[in-house]
Amino acid sequence: MPHPYIIAIDGPAASGKSTLGRRLAECLGYLFFDTGVMYRAVTWVTLQRGVAVTNEPAVTQLAETVQIDIRPPSIEDGRACDVLADGIDITWEIRTPEVERNVSPVSVYRGVRQALASQQRRIGMRGKVVMVGRDIGTVVLPEADLKIYLDASAEERARRRYTEVIKRGEKADYEEILAGVRMRDEIDSTRAFSPLRAAADAVILDSDKLNADEVFAKAEDLCR
Ligand code: CDP
Repeated sequence: MPHPYIIAIDGPAASGKSTLGRRLAECLGYLFFDTGVMYRAVTWVTLQRGVAVTNEPAVTQLAETVQIDIRPPSIEDGRACDVLADGIDITWEIRTPEVERNVSPVSVYRGVRQALASQQRRIGMRGKVVMVGRDIGTVVLPEADLKIYLDASAEERARRRYTEVIKRGEKADYEEILAGVRMRDEIDSTRAFSPLRAAADAVILDSDKLNADEVFAKAEDLCR
């Protein structure tokens, strides 16, 4: 049996999509593409240029013009890849609480979504790809051969994000992270254009009761 050519993984904030996607892509020799990085990059550029996040035309114009590059890691500091916006390395900047707070409002805008989704689709349609996001199975690559929707309770997801931040040597507050995760879930799942939801033909995996190895084993089975 051939492996699925295009794999879409969707799910709410910090549900383990990137961990699963990266591992699956490595195992299959596929490209791993984390689309969240692009929404984060547009948000960072918006904040950095002093553009109001509420200014939809200006934010959309930035999304249409900023050159986002994702490259193999050039530094060994725990990064999975380099993320550049107009040539500037913003790999860690896109993980700051400020970007985290503003990324969902930016991701609501239709023009922002259209600009980024068309780039994602162009890359995804080349095949041999594991693409991770919120709307991959529903909008970006509805023809994906395998769709996984990874879910977990907000408390469990916040706990994982908390551990991630602490591991990076940064300060973190669990309650604050939990509130942020809930806020992003709410905005992401209620927006008008490509809201977060499982595609009708997606396999739903609940990672509350499964650790990363168990989730990976299930996904590997699905690939076969
Ligand atoms: O890593 P985490 O799950 O916390 O977030 P992410 O995947 O990096 O995505 C950050 C934000 O970008 C999400 O909360 C969404 O608002 C937005 N996003 C989106 O709207 N569509 C995607 N395909 C990917 C991300």
